[in-house]
Amino acid sequence: MKKSSLRITPFSPQVGALVEGVDLRNTLSQQDLSAMRTALHEHGVIFLRGQKLSPEQHIEFARRFAPININRFFRAVDGYAQVAEVRKEPDQKSNIGGGWHTDHSYDLVPAMGSILRAIELPATGGDTLFASMSAAFDALSDGLKQTLRTMNAVHSSRHVFGESGRAVVKQDNAGRIGNADRVTPDVVHPVVIKHPESGRETLYVNPGFTTHFENWTAEESAPLLKYLYDHSSRPEFTCRFNWSDGAIAFWDNRATWHYALNDYHGARRLMHRITVEGSAISGSRLAHN
Ligand code: SIN
Repeated sequence: MKKSSLRITPFSPQVGALVEGVDLRNTLSQQDLSAMRTALHEHGVIFLRGQKLSPEQHIEFARRFAPININRFFRAVDGYAQVAEVRKEPDQKSNIGGGWHTDHSYDLVPAMGSILRAIELPATGGDTLFASMSAAFDALSDGLKQTLRTMNAVHSSRHVFGESGRAVVKQDNAGRIGNADRVTPDVVHPVVIKHPESGRETLYVNPGFTTHFENWTAEESAPLLKYLYDHSSRPEFTCRFNWSDGAIAFWDNRATWHYALNDYHGARRLMHRITVEGSAISGSRLAHN
């Protein structure tokens, strides 16, 4: 079989890889597709630069990996329901994704990943941070790992995207985030999941959407969650991606967190995001609210 011609180099020791030697306007060969999948599973997020894609080509690329999950809360690009807009205008103060989180952990079957493409960038700022949740888990003590393997946590879209949710009450999110009536019941996921492809154990709680440990109160959960969040966002488990025109970040939601920096007030930043479906996590179920 012909070998892939892609060049794949680690972007940081624990998370991220740069993929070069491909123009995504052309149909990807099976070899290149499989090399990209492997890089995604090994590094948690892959980065590509200078990809001048139309929305159709972006959609076509995403479909090679998995069916598209149409975002129910974000505004879509006109004419392309599959492409969500991640936009901040010069007069807006808050950005989308400006805190550590993993997308869709509030779904029973969380989306596999998102493919974010830079459309318009501020002159400086607007980088995105990524954290490896398998590296973070590996670095915990054996005792804590063992305890966490027995625990479950509740994840919710309500407290962010519901009627009085964190994202919805912000005045300047009007027109960017909506459909509060489309929140779904809370779900329970194991705190430690086995990544469906790499088999690596991954810490699966996040500051964006995890509300508490199952059968613990929110107050009881807060100190341990804080410890895990502080631990997981330690610089050695993270990398920082500096966007350029046409750059793409494709991350795996089951293996990473991300954080969009909000340090470019007064400038516009516009990204197109396509999210693709994932597979069921063993042990996940609906919460009893
Ligand atoms: C997101 O959280 O999906 C947005 C990330 C970014 O805009 O960098």
